[in-house]
Amino acid sequence: MAAGAAVRAWMLVLCLWGAVTGDQNITARIGKPLVLNCKGAPKKPPQQLEWKLNTGRTEAWKVLSPQGDPWDSVARVLPNGSLLLPAVGIQDEGTFRCRATSRSGKETKSNYRVRVYQIPGKPEIVDPASELMAGVPNKVGTCVSEGGYPAGTLSWHLDGKTLTPDGKGVSVKEETKRHPETGLFTLHSELMVTPTRGGALHPTFSCSFTPGLPRRRALHTAPIQLRVWSEHRGGEGPSVGEHMSEYTVPLEEVQLVVEPEGGAVALGGTVTLTCEAPAQPPPQIHWIKDGRPLPLPPGPVLLLPEVGPEDQGTYSCVATHPSHGPQESGAVSISLIETGKEGTTAGSVEGPGLETLALSLGILGGLGTVALLIGVIMWHRRRQRRGQERKVPENQEEEEEERAELNQPEEPEAAESSTGGP
Ligand SMILES: *[C@@H]1O[C@H](CO)[C@@H](O)[C@H](O)[C@H]1NC(C)=O
Ligand SMILES: *[C@@H]1O[C@H](CO)[C@@H](O)[C@H](O)[C@H]1NC(C)=O
Repeated sequence: MAAGAAVRAWMLVLCLWGAVTGDQNITARIGKPLVLNCKGAPKKPPQQLEWKLNTGRTEAWKVLSPQGDPWDSVARVLPNGSLLLPAVGIQDEGTFRCRATSRSGKETKSNYRVRVYQIPGKPEIVDPASELMAGVPNKVGTCVSEGGYPAGTLSWHLDGKTLTPDGKGVSVKEETKRHPETGLFTLHSELMVTPTRGGALHPTFSCSFTPGLPRRRALHTAPIQLRVWSEHRGGEGPSVGEHMSEYTVPLEEVQLVVEPEGGAVALGGTVTLTCEAPAQPPPQIHWIKDGRPLPLPPGPVLLLPEVGPEDQGTYSCVATHPSHGPQESGAVSISLIETGKEGTTAGSVEGPGLETLALSLGILGGLGTVALLIGVIMWHRRRQRRGQERKVPENQEEEEEERAELNQPEEPEAAESSTGGP
């Protein structure tokens, strides 16, 4: 009959579909209960179903049925046909299969690949360096992650960017240990770096743990900020961080950095002078112009906005530290860039002309900026409107994808919470 043919066709489709979908990947947290559903099984006995599992605990396939005895405390078939593992362990990783026949005689197979995981404690940086020496290899610290499964990996970051060991400036020594009883992993990663002279003075290091299973979140250590020192001039083999008192800062350690480089600036420009004096705690910085102290509150940065002729001169800074005494930086000179003869001889004659030119240029510039702003705002609005039109379907798709993704690994976890124990 036609109806019978349709049913048979449907069964064929379902069988093919089952063959195509293959194993469903399940991740379960160690120590938690796991429930695997036997698809297509009647909700209540009598049922025709059979569970088969091949895991670290079985030699070959182990068969469990609703009528049979539970397998010690490892696994048992629930009244609704699902398989319960009261507390998942590393040995339960493997393949789980169920074959069920419905009341109408339809056979359904469920295939699961179970992988287990354990989230380690928050990684930590142990034995962190207190400071680093430029030009030589320094141990920054050892990152430790304890109690994870599967092993996962540790990686280091400098100022937020991942550090790739290159065997030269950056090297990493790794060690993976496994607890003899629990089988959980402890990872160690020791970082050595050779800071370049003239590089960043306050690099920030952190370490993160990346789980060995996909879709699990990474864990991060608290960052550590270190101070980079340049080497002693005499090079008498300083021992990093052992004797702070040995770090009397040589004179050239107090450095004056000028921006723009060279100290030449156009009239009305801005000059920034930064006094770099490596010491802990930070020393007091005073400023000197043409040999005379500037009457300013102490601070490591001297900003000269709208530079005029009166700002030209020779600048230096003095770092005063209680244990080191005052140390002066080298001097830099600030000068105005001469924009041709008119600039320097700008007197009563040329002045007004230049001022008018500057004024009209200023107005033109202002108008241009306003036009540009309006343009940007209009463009932004149009984009927003178009974005809203497009957003709705996009979001839906994303959500659906996410749900589809979550379905597989999260299914057992959702089931876990409903069992609540053996
Ligand atoms: C399950 O994981 C295996 C590798 O472990 C992969 O090849 C397979 O595509 C995954 N199956 C699904 C349905 O995600
Ligand atoms: C079977 O029962 C368990 C525990 O009561 C439950 O977690 C699971 O979702 C049930 N399975 C089905 C297919 O209803």
